[in-house]
Amino acid sequence: MALNIDEIRSDFPILQRENRSKPLAFLDNAATSQKPACVVNAISDYYTNSNSNVHRGVYELAEDAENLYHQARKSIALRFNVSVNQVIFVRGATEGLNLIAQSYGSVVLRKGDCMILSEMEHHANIVPWQILSEKIGFSIRICPTLSDGSLDREWISHEFSEGKVKLISLTALSNTLGTVNPIKEIVSEARQHGIKTVIDGAQSVPHQKIDFQKIGCDFFAFSGHKIYGPMGIGVVLGSSDALNQMPPYQAGGDMIDQVSFDGTTFAAPPQRFEAGTPNVAGAIGLGKAIEYINQFDISDVVKHENKLHQIASSGLSKIEGFVEHGTTPNKAAVLSFTIEGIHPHDLASFLDAQGIAIRTGHHCCQPLMKILGVEATARASFAIYNTEDEANRFVEAVRKAVGILR
Ligand code: ALA
Repeated sequence: MALNIDEIRSDFPILQRENRSKPLAFLDNAATSQKPACVVNAISDYYTNSNSNVHRGVYELAEDAENLYHQARKSIALRFNVSVNQVIFVRGATEGLNLIAQSYGSVVLRKGDCMILSEMEHHANIVPWQILSEKIGFSIRICPTLSDGSLDREWISHEFSEGKVKLISLTALSNTLGTVNPIKEIVSEARQHGIKTVIDGAQSVPHQKIDFQKIGCDFFAFSGHKIYGPMGIGVVLGSSDALNQMPPYQAGGDMIDQVSFDGTTFAAPPQRFEAGTPNVAGAIGLGKAIEYINQFDISDVVKHENKLHQIASSGLSKIEGFVEHGTTPNKAAVLSFTIEGIHPHDLASFLDAQGIAIRTGHHCCQPLMKILGVEATARASFAIYNTEDEANRFVEAVRKAVGILR
């Protein structure tokens, strides 16, 4: 069923504003998404009517806050097909991946072991593992990216069969190339070799319906703000087996069972990993965002976004010196590109004056930039509320920029 984009746009008040006195065309959705009014209102309602700390008060107000917080965890559990005890609230995918590396990584990785990352990983799925590897002494092998921006699957199969790999941590969808990785296939192959699997789902959640059980991975981490929820909240989904083996990541209130000066015992997951006063409003906002996205069939969303990507990509392909980075057919609506002779930042400034917001830079993927042989790319990324008119405006504005800047 085709989406009613006008109706969807009316759910997002910010889309009515201007950017440099021009209608805003927000094409930086891989950096963050805009928020529907229901999410903004849920946060405001919480602070207006139900604000209290959770897991501490016996009064009615605290019960209200706790019920809302629990309901949010339940909505997330339902969407991702896990139990509520497998949903850990964190600040975002970055904190989630740090938690997984520090806590799980230190249980399963030993000196002399090997783990796999890929060339297309975001810094958040590189640096936590590097820090851990310096501490423990395991090595990190990097899966190459093929010229169309897809993973070298043969390389992965070969590494798996060598018997040294203990863990693989991969993005489900590259924030820079848009590549959708075959995570279900890779996880299934990894499991046959007893290899543990971590998925960075930050970019994938607005474009894919994730069923944690079907993927079969040990961990899946994502941020709320890329799936129409608030910033400062994210989730780690973990298998019960893995979570139960893990030591706490941070320590403090709410994650304990008993504390004495002789020692401390810890709460069961998810509380074990949620030290301190949680971001209750953020969780409620994320729960609402999940309820919002649940009303759409993901295949309709993908079809719509891919059409916009197609308009933009084919429009720009006529420009001399245009290169799209990431051309595998199995990709999401992320258009990372360079145009010979034009600096991406100059291009973005020109588009900004036309009301069009895109991102430029290394996209927190410096190793990938090196492999692509560029310092930076310009990136337009589409979401459910973008229109064909915006995609066409973007193409026209880039063409105009090329005429002036080159
Ligand atoms: N990781 C985010 C991006 O790709 C911020 O822009």
